[in-house]
Amino acid sequence: MKVLLTGGTGYIGSHTAVCLMQSGHEPVLFDNLSNSKKDVVQAIARITGKEPAFVEGDIRSKTLLEDVLRRHEIDAVIHFAGLKAVGESCEKPLLYYDNNIAGTVCLLEAMKACAVGKLIFSSSSTVYGTPSALPLTEDMPTGTPTNPYGRTKLMIEEILQDLCRADPGFSAVCLRYFNPIGAHESGLIGEDPNGIPNNLLPYVARVASGKLEYVRVFGNDYPTPDGTGVRDYIHVVDLARGHVAALDYAQTHAGWEAVNLGTGRGTSVLEMIAAFEKACGKKLPYRILPRRAGDIAANWCSPEKAHRLLGWKAQYGVEEMCASSWKFEQLHS
Ligand code: NAD
Ligand code: UD1
Repeated sequence: MKVLLTGGTGYIGSHTAVCLMQSGHEPVLFDNLSNSKKDVVQAIARITGKEPAFVEGDIRSKTLLEDVLRRHEIDAVIHFAGLKAVGESCEKPLLYYDNNIAGTVCLLEAMKACAVGKLIFSSSSTVYGTPSALPLTEDMPTGTPTNPYGRTKLMIEEILQDLCRADPGFSAVCLRYFNPIGAHESGLIGEDPNGIPNNLLPYVARVASGKLEYVRVFGNDYPTPDGTGVRDYIHVVDLARGHVAALDYAQTHAGWEAVNLGTGRGTSVLEMIAAFEKACGKKLPYRILPRRAGDIAANWCSPEKAHRLLGWKAQYGVEEMCASSWKFEQLHS
Protein backbone atom coordinates (compact mmCIF):
# COMPACT_ATOMS: atom_id res chain seq x y z
CA MET A 1 0.00 0.00 0.00
CA LYS A 2 1.00 3.62 -0.48
CA VAL A 3 0.72 5.15 2.95
CA LEU A 4 0.87 8.79 3.99
CA LEU A 5 2.62 9.21 7.34
CA THR A 6 1.77 12.58 8.86
CA GLY A 7 4.48 13.32 11.43
CA GLY A 8 6.55 10.80 9.50
CA THR A 9 9.99 12.13 10.49
CA GLY A 10 9.12 12.03 14.20
CA TYR A 11 10.12 9.40 16.75
CA ILE A 12 7.36 6.83 16.18
CA GLY A 13 6.73 7.81 12.53
CA SER A 14 10.34 7.15 11.50
CA HIS A 15 10.38 3.68 13.08
CA THR A 16 7.05 2.90 11.44
CA ALA A 17 8.38 4.06 8.05
CA VAL A 18 11.22 1.54 8.36
CA CYS A 19 8.86 -1.24 9.35
CA LEU A 20 6.43 -0.44 6.52
CA MET A 21 9.23 -0.44 3.93
CA GLN A 22 10.52 -3.75 5.27
CA SER A 23 6.99 -5.16 4.92
CA GLY A 24 6.70 -4.10 1.26
CA HIS A 25 4.62 -0.93 1.74
CA GLU A 26 5.53 2.47 0.36
CA PRO A 27 5.42 5.31 2.90
CA VAL A 28 5.27 9.01 2.04
CA LEU A 29 6.51 11.09 4.96
CA PHE A 30 4.72 14.39 5.57
CA ASP A 31 6.00 16.64 8.35
CA ASN A 32 6.39 20.34 9.15
CA LEU A 33 9.64 19.56 11.03
CA SER A 34 8.40 21.40 14.14
CA ASN A 35 9.74 18.57 16.32
CA SER A 36 12.01 16.53 14.05
CA LYS A 37 14.78 16.93 11.49
CA LYS A 38 14.97 16.19 7.79
CA ASP A 39 18.15 14.09 8.35
CA VAL A 40 15.81 11.32 9.52
CA VAL A 41 14.92 10.66 5.86
CA GLN A 42 18.57 9.78 5.12
CA ALA A 43 18.81 7.69 8.29
CA ILE A 44 15.78 5.67 7.11
CA ALA A 45 17.46 5.27 3.70
CA ARG A 46 20.61 3.93 5.41
CA ILE A 47 18.57 1.35 7.31
CA THR A 48 16.29 0.23 4.46
CA GLY A 49 18.48 0.85 1.41
CA LYS A 50 15.84 3.12 -0.13
CA GLU A 51 14.99 6.76 0.47
CA PRO A 52 11.30 7.26 1.29
CA ALA A 53 9.41 10.16 -0.29
CA PHE A 54 9.28 13.23 1.95
CA VAL A 55 7.07 16.31 1.77
CA GLU A 56 7.64 19.23 4.10
CA GLY A 57 4.25 20.64 5.05
CA ASP A 58 1.66 21.28 7.71
CA ILE A 59 -1.47 19.16 8.20
CA ARG A 60 -3.44 22.40 8.51
CA SER A 61 -2.85 23.04 4.79
CA LYS A 62 -5.69 21.24 3.01
CA THR A 63 -4.60 22.17 -0.51
CA LEU A 64 -1.14 20.72 0.03
CA LEU A 65 -2.54 17.55 1.62
CA GLU A 66 -4.98 17.02 -1.25
CA ASP A 67 -2.17 17.49 -3.73
CA VAL A 68 0.02 14.92 -1.93
CA LEU A 69 -2.82 12.40 -1.52
CA ARG A 70 -3.58 12.60 -5.27
CA ARG A 71 -0.04 12.85 -6.59
CA HIS A 72 1.16 9.83 -4.59
CA GLU A 73 -2.10 7.86 -5.05
CA ILE A 74 -2.31 7.27 -1.31
CA ASP A 75 -4.37 4.27 -0.11
CA ALA A 76 -4.26 4.91 3.66
CA VAL A 77 -3.01 7.43 6.21
CA ILE A 78 -1.18 6.87 9.49
CA HIS A 79 -1.67 10.05 11.48
CA PHE A 80 1.21 10.73 13.89
CA ALA A 81 1.44 14.52 13.46
CA GLY A 82 0.69 16.35 16.66
CA LEU A 83 2.17 18.26 19.53
CA LYS A 84 2.73 16.09 22.60
CA ALA A 85 4.28 18.02 25.49
CA VAL A 86 1.89 17.80 28.42
CA GLY A 87 3.27 20.86 30.29
CA GLU A 88 3.27 23.03 27.17
CA SER A 89 -0.32 22.01 26.43
CA CYS A 90 -1.38 23.48 29.81
CA GLU A 91 0.42 26.75 29.02
CA LYS A 92 -0.72 27.00 25.38
CA PRO A 93 -4.00 25.09 25.07
CA LEU A 94 -5.10 26.91 21.91
CA LEU A 95 -1.91 25.92 20.14
CA TYR A 96 -2.70 22.28 20.96
CA TYR A 97 -6.35 22.50 19.93
CA ASP A 98 -5.39 24.22 16.68
CA ASN A 99 -2.50 21.92 15.76
CA ASN A 100 -3.98 18.61 16.92
CA ILE A 101 -7.74 19.04 16.53
CA ALA A 102 -8.02 21.55 13.67
CA GLY A 103 -5.10 19.78 11.97
CA THR A 104 -6.87 16.43 12.17
CA VAL A 105 -10.17 17.86 10.86
CA CYS A 106 -8.25 19.38 7.95
CA LEU A 107 -6.59 16.03 7.23
CA LEU A 108 -9.94 14.22 7.34
CA GLU A 109 -11.47 16.76 4.94
CA ALA A 110 -8.59 16.30 2.52
CA MET A 111 -8.97 12.51 2.76
CA LYS A 112 -12.68 12.83 2.04
CA ALA A 113 -12.06 15.04 -0.99
CA CYS A 114 -9.61 12.46 -2.34
CA ALA A 115 -11.70 9.38 -1.40
CA VAL A 116 -9.07 7.99 0.98
CA GLY A 117 -11.03 6.09 3.63
CA LYS A 118 -8.51 4.38 5.91
CA LEU A 119 -6.84 6.01 8.90
CA ILE A 120 -4.64 4.73 11.71
CA PHE A 121 -4.47 7.26 14.54
CA SER A 122 -1.83 7.74 17.27
CA SER A 123 -3.90 7.75 20.41
CA SER A 124 -2.65 7.33 23.95
CA SER A 125 -3.37 5.49 27.19
CA THR A 126 -4.06 8.97 28.57
CA VAL A 127 -7.66 8.63 27.21
CA TYR A 128 -8.43 6.26 30.09
CA GLY A 129 -7.75 8.99 32.69
CA THR A 130 -7.18 7.58 36.18
CA PRO A 131 -7.67 3.81 35.87
CA SER A 132 -10.48 2.31 37.95
CA ALA A 133 -9.03 -1.19 37.44
CA LEU A 134 -5.96 -2.78 35.86
CA PRO A 135 -5.15 -4.03 33.30
CA LEU A 136 -6.87 -1.50 31.05
CA THR A 137 -9.07 -3.02 28.37
CA GLU A 138 -10.57 -1.17 25.41
CA ASP A 139 -14.15 -1.76 26.57
CA MET A 140 -13.54 0.23 29.76
CA PRO A 141 -15.03 3.72 29.58
CA THR A 142 -12.63 6.48 28.67
CA GLY A 143 -11.90 8.90 31.52
CA THR A 144 -10.94 12.51 31.88
CA PRO A 145 -7.39 13.19 30.72
CA THR A 146 -5.60 15.53 33.15
CA ASN A 147 -4.35 18.00 30.52
CA PRO A 148 -5.24 19.62 27.15
CA TYR A 149 -2.84 17.32 25.26
CA GLY A 150 -4.68 14.28 26.58
CA ARG A 151 -8.03 15.88 25.80
CA THR A 152 -7.02 16.37 22.16
CA LYS A 153 -6.43 12.59 21.92
CA LEU A 154 -9.84 11.80 23.39
CA MET A 155 -11.60 14.39 21.20
CA ILE A 156 -9.95 13.04 18.05
CA GLU A 157 -11.03 9.51 18.96
CA GLU A 158 -14.59 10.83 19.30
CA ILE A 159 -14.41 12.76 16.02
CA LEU A 160 -13.34 9.54 14.31
CA GLN A 161 -16.21 7.64 15.92
CA ASP A 162 -18.69 10.21 14.58
CA LEU A 163 -17.11 10.02 11.15
CA CYS A 164 -17.40 6.23 11.06
CA ARG A 165 -21.07 6.46 12.11
CA ALA A 166 -21.75 8.92 9.28
CA ASP A 167 -19.71 7.02 6.71
CA PRO A 168 -19.90 3.26 7.31
CA GLY A 169 -17.24 2.62 4.66
CA PHE A 170 -14.61 4.61 6.58
CA SER A 171 -12.04 2.69 8.60
CA ALA A 172 -10.40 4.27 11.68
CA VAL A 173 -8.13 2.37 14.05
CA CYS A 174 -7.12 4.32 17.16
CA LEU A 175 -3.95 2.82 18.57
CA ARG A 176 -3.70 3.62 22.27
CA TYR A 177 0.01 3.65 22.95
CA PHE A 178 1.25 2.97 26.45
CA ASN A 179 4.83 4.26 27.07
CA PRO A 180 6.95 3.99 23.91
CA ILE A 181 10.71 3.94 24.53
CA GLY A 182 13.87 2.55 22.94
CA ALA A 183 15.28 2.98 19.46
CA HIS A 184 16.02 1.11 16.25
CA GLU A 185 18.82 -1.46 16.72
CA SER A 186 21.03 0.46 14.23
CA GLY A 187 21.14 3.43 16.60
CA LEU A 188 20.41 5.64 13.57
CA ILE A 189 16.92 6.73 14.61
CA GLY A 190 15.49 7.24 18.09
CA GLU A 191 14.06 9.84 20.43
CA ASP A 192 16.08 13.00 20.83
CA PRO A 193 13.96 15.61 22.63
CA ASN A 194 14.99 19.25 22.64
CA GLY A 195 15.92 20.72 26.02
CA ILE A 196 15.43 18.86 29.28
CA PRO A 197 13.38 15.70 28.66
CA ASN A 198 9.95 15.44 30.30
CA ASN A 199 9.75 11.68 29.97
CA LEU A 200 11.58 9.21 32.16
CA LEU A 201 13.65 7.23 29.69
CA PRO A 202 15.25 10.06 27.70
CA TYR A 203 16.06 11.67 31.07
CA VAL A 204 17.70 8.51 32.41
CA ALA A 205 19.69 8.15 29.16
CA ARG A 206 21.08 11.66 29.61
CA VAL A 207 22.10 10.92 33.19
CA ALA A 208 23.90 7.82 31.88
CA SER A 209 25.80 9.90 29.31
CA GLY A 210 26.71 12.50 31.94
CA LYS A 211 24.62 15.31 30.41
CA LEU A 212 22.37 15.43 33.47
CA GLU A 213 23.48 14.91 37.03
CA TYR A 214 20.89 12.57 38.56
CA VAL A 215 17.49 11.05 37.85
CA ARG A 216 14.60 12.83 39.54
CA VAL A 217 12.22 10.18 40.85
CA PHE A 218 8.81 11.82 41.13
CA GLY A 219 7.35 10.30 44.29
CA ASN A 220 7.98 7.07 46.19
CA ASP A 221 4.74 7.04 48.15
CA TYR A 222 2.41 5.61 45.50
CA PRO A 223 0.43 2.46 46.29
CA THR A 224 2.81 0.36 44.15
CA PRO A 225 5.26 -2.37 45.25
CA ASP A 226 8.26 0.01 45.64
CA GLY A 227 6.24 3.23 45.93
CA THR A 228 7.30 4.65 42.54
CA GLY A 229 5.08 5.04 39.47
CA VAL A 230 4.41 1.96 37.35
CA ARG A 231 4.00 2.10 33.55
CA ASP A 232 3.69 -0.29 30.62
CA TYR A 233 6.84 0.51 28.61
CA ILE A 234 6.82 -0.68 25.01
CA HIS A 235 9.69 -0.90 22.53
CA VAL A 236 9.17 1.59 19.69
CA VAL A 237 9.99 -1.12 17.14
CA ASP A 238 7.19 -3.32 18.53
CA LEU A 239 4.93 -0.27 18.37
CA ALA A 240 5.93 0.29 14.73
CA ARG A 241 5.08 -3.34 13.92
CA GLY A 242 1.66 -2.72 15.48
CA HIS A 243 0.97 -0.04 12.86
CA VAL A 244 1.73 -2.40 10.00
CA ALA A 245 -0.65 -4.95 11.55
CA ALA A 246 -3.34 -2.26 11.98
CA LEU A 247 -2.93 -1.24 8.35
CA ASP A 248 -3.47 -4.83 7.23
CA TYR A 249 -6.57 -4.97 9.41
CA ALA A 250 -7.97 -1.68 8.03
CA GLN A 251 -7.62 -3.00 4.49
CA THR A 252 -10.40 -5.49 5.10
CA HIS A 253 -12.45 -3.94 7.95
CA ALA A 254 -14.51 -0.74 7.98
CA GLY A 255 -15.63 1.09 11.13
CA TRP A 256 -14.02 2.41 14.31
CA GLU A 257 -11.77 0.43 16.62
CA ALA A 258 -9.60 1.31 19.60
CA VAL A 259 -6.67 -0.99 20.30
CA ASN A 260 -4.14 -0.89 23.16
CA LEU A 261 -0.50 -1.25 22.20
CA GLY A 262 1.51 -2.25 25.25
CA THR A 263 3.22 -5.31 26.69
CA GLY A 264 0.74 -5.95 29.49
CA ARG A 265 3.54 -5.67 32.06
CA GLY A 266 4.13 -2.82 34.49
CA THR A 267 7.61 -1.58 35.48
CA SER A 268 8.35 0.93 38.25
CA VAL A 269 10.64 3.96 37.99
CA LEU A 270 13.24 2.29 40.21
CA GLU A 271 13.06 -0.91 38.14
CA MET A 272 13.60 1.13 34.96
CA ILE A 273 16.65 2.83 36.48
CA ALA A 274 18.04 -0.60 37.43
CA ALA A 275 17.39 -1.94 33.90
CA PHE A 276 19.19 1.03 32.38
CA GLU A 277 22.13 0.58 34.78
CA LYS A 278 22.45 -2.97 33.45
CA ALA A 279 22.35 -1.70 29.84
CA CYS A 280 24.97 1.03 30.32
CA GLY A 281 27.11 -0.80 32.88
CA LYS A 282 27.20 1.98 35.47
CA LYS A 283 25.41 3.10 38.60
CA LEU A 284 22.97 5.93 37.98
CA PRO A 285 22.44 8.46 40.76
CA TYR A 286 18.86 9.36 41.60
CA ARG A 287 16.97 11.48 44.11
CA ILE A 288 13.45 11.06 45.38
CA LEU A 289 11.40 14.21 44.74
CA PRO A 290 7.74 15.01 45.41
CA ARG A 291 5.10 13.58 43.07
CA ARG A 292 4.65 15.32 39.69
CA ALA A 293 1.28 17.02 39.29
CA GLY A 294 -1.15 15.09 37.08
CA ASP A 295 0.67 11.73 37.39
CA ILE A 296 -1.22 8.53 38.09
CA ALA A 297 0.18 5.75 40.29
CA ALA A 298 0.11 2.93 37.78
CA ASN A 299 -1.16 1.85 34.40
CA TRP A 300 -0.69 -1.13 32.18
CA CYS A 301 -2.85 -2.66 29.53
CA SER A 302 -4.33 -5.88 28.41
CA PRO A 303 -2.78 -6.42 24.95
CA GLU A 304 -5.28 -9.23 24.28
CA LYS A 305 -7.40 -7.30 21.74
CA ALA A 306 -4.33 -6.36 19.69
CA HIS A 307 -3.44 -10.03 19.57
CA ARG A 308 -6.95 -11.14 18.67
CA LEU A 309 -7.74 -8.41 16.12
CA LEU A 310 -4.36 -7.62 14.62
CA GLY A 311 -2.39 -10.79 15.35
CA TRP A 312 0.17 -8.57 17.09
CA LYS A 313 2.16 -9.14 20.26
CA ALA A 314 5.09 -7.21 21.75
CA GLN A 315 8.35 -9.13 21.42
CA TYR A 316 10.85 -7.04 23.36
CA GLY A 317 11.33 -6.54 27.09
CA VAL A 318 12.78 -3.65 29.11
CA GLU A 319 16.33 -5.00 28.64
CA GLU A 320 16.21 -4.53 24.86
CA MET A 321 14.40 -1.21 25.29
CA CYS A 322 17.16 0.16 27.55
CA ALA A 323 20.00 -1.32 25.48
CA SER A 324 18.73 0.26 22.24
CA SER A 325 18.06 3.56 23.93
CA TRP A 326 21.62 3.57 25.34
CA LYS A 327 23.09 2.78 21.91
CA PHE A 328 21.17 5.69 20.38
CA GLU A 329 22.22 8.03 23.21
CA GLN A 330 25.90 7.15 22.73
CA LEU A 331 25.78 7.69 18.98
CA HIS A 332 23.99 11.01 19.35
CA SER A 333 25.83 12.54 22.32
P1 NAD B 1 7.25 13.41 17.61
O1 NAD B 1 7.11 14.81 18.11
O2 NAD B 1 8.59 12.81 17.53
O3 NAD B 1 6.53 13.25 16.19
C1 NAD B 1 5.44 14.03 15.80
C2 NAD B 1 5.80 14.66 14.48
O4 NAD B 1 4.70 15.46 14.02
C3 NAD B 1 7.01 15.60 14.56
O5 NAD B 1 7.96 15.20 13.60
C4 NAD B 1 6.44 16.99 14.23
O6 NAD B 1 7.37 17.79 13.55
C5 NAD B 1 5.21 16.65 13.43
N1 NAD B 1 4.14 17.62 13.47
C6 NAD B 1 3.58 18.23 14.56
N2 NAD B 1 2.60 19.07 14.19
C7 NAD B 1 2.53 19.00 12.83
C8 NAD B 1 1.73 19.65 11.86
N3 NAD B 1 0.81 20.55 12.22
N4 NAD B 1 1.91 19.36 10.56
C9 NAD B 1 2.85 18.44 10.19
N5 NAD B 1 3.64 17.82 11.06
C10 NAD B 1 3.49 18.10 12.36
O7 NAD B 1 6.29 12.51 18.54
P2 NAD B 1 6.12 10.94 18.59
O8 NAD B 1 6.58 10.50 19.93
O9 NAD B 1 6.66 10.31 17.39
O10 NAD B 1 4.54 10.85 18.60
C11 NAD B 1 3.78 10.60 17.43
C12 NAD B 1 2.32 10.63 17.79
O11 NAD B 1 2.06 9.66 18.81
C13 NAD B 1 1.84 11.96 18.37
O12 NAD B 1 0.55 12.23 17.90
C14 NAD B 1 1.83 11.72 19.86
O13 NAD B 1 0.90 12.54 20.53
C15 NAD B 1 1.40 10.26 19.91
N6 NAD B 1 1.80 9.60 21.15
C16 NAD B 1 3.11 9.58 21.52
C17 NAD B 1 3.49 8.98 22.71
C18 NAD B 1 4.94 8.96 23.14
O14 NAD B 1 5.21 8.63 24.29
N7 NAD B 1 5.91 9.27 22.30
C19 NAD B 1 2.53 8.35 23.52
C20 NAD B 1 1.20 8.36 23.10
C21 NAD B 1 0.84 8.98 21.91
C1 UD1 C 1 3.46 11.10 29.92
C2 UD1 C 1 2.19 11.87 29.70
C3 UD1 C 1 1.33 11.16 28.69
C4 UD1 C 1 2.10 10.94 27.40
C5 UD1 C 1 3.39 10.18 27.74
C6 UD1 C 1 4.25 9.98 26.54
C7 UD1 C 1 1.76 12.99 31.84
C8 UD1 C 1 0.85 13.10 33.00
N1 UD1 C 1 1.48 12.02 30.95
O1 UD1 C 1 3.15 9.81 30.44
O2 UD1 C 1 0.17 11.93 28.41
O3 UD1 C 1 1.32 10.21 26.47
O4 UD1 C 1 4.13 10.91 28.71
O5 UD1 C 1 4.74 11.19 26.05
O6 UD1 C 1 2.70 13.75 31.69
N2 UD1 C 1 9.16 10.07 36.06
C9 UD1 C 1 10.15 10.31 36.98
N3 UD1 C 1 11.12 11.19 36.64
C10 UD1 C 1 11.18 11.84 35.44
C11 UD1 C 1 10.14 11.59 34.50
C12 UD1 C 1 9.15 10.69 34.84
O7 UD1 C 1 10.15 9.75 38.08
O8 UD1 C 1 12.10 12.65 35.21
C13 UD1 C 1 8.14 9.05 36.38
C14 UD1 C 1 6.70 9.52 36.28
O9 UD1 C 1 6.27 10.02 37.53
C15 UD1 C 1 5.97 8.24 35.85
C16 UD1 C 1 7.02 7.49 35.01
O10 UD1 C 1 8.28 8.03 35.40
O11 UD1 C 1 5.69 7.44 36.98
C17 UD1 C 1 6.83 7.68 33.51
O12 UD1 C 1 6.76 9.08 33.21
P1 UD1 C 1 6.79 9.63 31.71
O13 UD1 C 1 7.88 8.99 30.96
O14 UD1 C 1 6.79 11.11 31.79
O15 UD1 C 1 5.44 9.09 31.09
P2 UD1 C 1 3.93 9.24 31.66
O16 UD1 C 1 3.83 10.20 32.75
O17 UD1 C 1 3.43 7.87 31.87
